[in-house]
Amino acid sequence: MKQSLFALLALCAVLPLAAETLTLPAPRKTGGMPLAEALSARRTERKFPDAVKPTLQQLADLLWAANGVTRPDGKRTAPSARNCQEIELAVATADGVFTYDAKANTLTRVETDDTLDTLRGDASVYLILHYDRDAQKRESAVVDAGFVGQNVYLWCASEGWGTVFLGTVDRRRVAAVLGCGEDEVLYAQKIGIR
Ligand SMILES: Cc1cc2nc3c(=O)[nH]c(=O)nc-3n(C[C@H](O)[C@H](O)[C@H](O)COP(=O)(O)O)c2cc1C
Repeated sequence: MKQSLFALLALCAVLPLAAETLTLPAPRKTGGMPLAEALSARRTERKFPDAVKPTLQQLADLLWAANGVTRPDGKRTAPSARNCQEIELAVATADGVFTYDAKANTLTRVETDDTLDTLRGDASVYLILHYDRDAQKRESAVVDAGFVGQNVYLWCASEGWGTVFLGTVDRRRVAAVLGCGEDEVLYAQKIGIR
């Protein structure tokens, strides 16, 4: 009896991790660098020797800036063709791989191997920008992803972080991790938080 109780408690401790969804803190929607200064500071950095692990607040802020919800009707920080909102974000950090739900402001863990951790390299965050090919034409999705990428560039400039937008992505490996089509993996973006 005692043994089965221990087994049950051990299972309860493990199960939430298996399908872990965590609610992010409310993103910071005020402050930051004046826009003209952020535009001047925006640049690509490819090496992140001083990168640190993101806090949940930093992830919430970054993801909201990238493609978060700004209005009661669900519209976002990034525009999208026909308001399709087809760009999905997957996030790899030293703590694992997660999918971002902008409406719920949550991260859900993806159980996977260390593929994305390897692709993250010395960055704090490896963002994958992908889409659903049934929801949007690829040519519109590519443009929509560009807006998300620029939002991330400007947020990083404002925070003093480094970033690089990447067309060079190992789509085969990333698609295997996310369980989507290779052609649905559009871009990646590395972020180095200081
Ligand atoms: C669509 C796109 C794809 C890119 N792909 C890569 C890439 O695969 N590797 C890389 O190092 N930089 C990549 N970049 C970053 C560009 O090389 C960089 O923006 C350009 O050199 C200009 O530098 P700046 O961003 O500092 O103005 C990409 C940029 C864009 C817009």
